[in-house]
Amino acid sequence: MNRPARTPHVLLNGRLLPAARAKISALDRGFLYGDGLFETLRTYGGEPFGLAAHLARLRRSARVFRMDVPISPTFWEPRIRRLLRANRLESTDASVRLTVSRGAAPFGILPPRGLRPTTLLLASALDPRLTRAQSRGVRVCFFPFRVVTARLPGHKTLHYLPAVLGKMVARRRSSWESLYLDADDHVLEGTTSNIFIVRRGALFTPPLHGVLPGVTRKTIATVAARCGLDLTERALKTRDLDRADEIFLTASTIEVLPVVRVEGTRVGDGRPGTVTRMLQDGYRAHVRRALARARG
Ligand SMILES: Cc1ncc(COP(=O)(O)O)c(C=O)c1O
Repeated sequence: MNRPARTPHVLLNGRLLPAARAKISALDRGFLYGDGLFETLRTYGGEPFGLAAHLARLRRSARVFRMDVPISPTFWEPRIRRLLRANRLESTDASVRLTVSRGAAPFGILPPRGLRPTTLLLASALDPRLTRAQSRGVRVCFFPFRVVTARLPGHKTLHYLPAVLGKMVARRRSSWESLYLDADDHVLEGTTSNIFIVRRGALFTPPLHGVLPGVTRKTIATVAARCGLDLTERALKTRDLDRADEIFLTASTIEVLPVVRVEGTRVGDGRPGTVTRMLQDGYRAHVRRALARARG
């Protein structure tokens, strides 16, 4: 395995730069208003997984917010590979974050037309705690505020301050993740993950109302079907977590992450369950097959 590069590099507006030297305008609307979008995907042995699905989500959001930003795989894929090489991550697993903002403009919320978007690519090694977390399971806690739909949960906008708070709260409570709840006690998702529960061998996940359409969430639906598991979209309340036999989170970087405690209460016997394990293996096999197909 290659050693990661000593100085992390980024690709800012197509220029490869040491991260510390990459600068954006003080008038960038991404900085001033969170007026931008992002995607985080995972690479396996240097191969990006699910790029088309991530770009489809980006395209949908760019259309909603009328942002004229680069979307095509022919734009992003060579840039991702170039950045991986620059960071010596081209033959290992890594996390790649693609960020776009509407660009820099004179002060004022209403964006002028015809701005040049800012594009930024970051690549980093995976969280070193991940492998252990995947095999042992993690704790989760509840986000301290009830969330409202003004959060634009269906889009990965640059407004991720709630997630920042959620992750800080989780760290303080020795948890991996905070779960968003709405005013009616519905469990929506994690700050950077979707949630599934297993009850009597069947799978349940909240519907997409108030939830990000996760690329991994969708892949898990395919994997579950292949494993012969029943998956139902159903509103989940906190009491459903109490009754669950198994719980897991999904996201591109963490894949399938078992949850073994919610707010200090044990899930099942306190160890990752058999359905979760089956889906972890099934997901990995799915990724391997998809990447082999893509290589031809
Ligand atoms: C709020 C939220 N939900 C779910 C996810 C999982 O999405 P994906 O599977 O596309 O990585 C993320 C990813 O960061 C997220 O931020």
